[in-house]
Amino acid sequence: MALTSSNVVWHPELVSRADREALNAHGSALLWLTGLSGAGKSTIAQAVATLLHERGIRAYVLDGDNVRHGLCGDLGFSADDRTENIRRIGEMSKLFVDAGMIAITAFISPFREDRDKVRTMFEKGDFLEIFCDCNLDECERRDVKGLYKKARAGLIPEFTGISSPYEPPSAPELVVNTDSQTPEESATAVIELLQSKGIVPA
Ligand code: ADX
Repeated sequence: MALTSSNVVWHPELVSRADREALNAHGSALLWLTGLSGAGKSTIAQAVATLLHERGIRAYVLDGDNVRHGLCGDLGFSADDRTENIRRIGEMSKLFVDAGMIAITAFISPFREDRDKVRTMFEKGDFLEIFCDCNLDECERRDVKGLYKKARAGLIPEFTGISSPYEPPSAPELVVNTDSQTPEESATAVIELLQSKGIVPA
């Protein structure tokens, strides 16, 4: 698939990312949360966004279920559709990072290759992969949306962890063990990661 339309020319910007970061008094980055459905990605993303907001830091959450209501509403859960879903989110996150914000994405993003491709779209240090590590038994026990039950009953094809694979990251910037930590503990670890990288003030 062509990634650039015909007859289009990139417009240079007069206000740069660095200008926007200076205005905001903090850096920008993409926090990429990945993990099984029910692992706590959305909960942690919201908790991180709240902690950042309280500190006067501009952040925005892009969430799988929400984005699939609009921008990616035409996509299903085949391997190809998931790849396209992640590509679009990667492109959209790039705009948020260029806008000087902390983008927080909460997508299963089950395929390592898709996540690694997004990483290559960013400057080194801008893409921070956070593995929300929760064992399948616990996700299934929580079954917040009742989807595991349906998947086990054969009502949802290609359900991640049941009938479609999940490939954990090989070298994430952070692992949060959401089966043993509280969402607050995980969110605090994410904030500490941002501080340790000098992206947000300590
Ligand atoms: S991804 O694989 O393309 O990254 P995404 O995070 O956007 O997935 O969407 C996952 C959400 O869609 C799940 O939390 C769940 O609510 C819902 N869902 C519906 N069908 C499936 C499926 N077959 N596999 C996984 N999640 C599904």
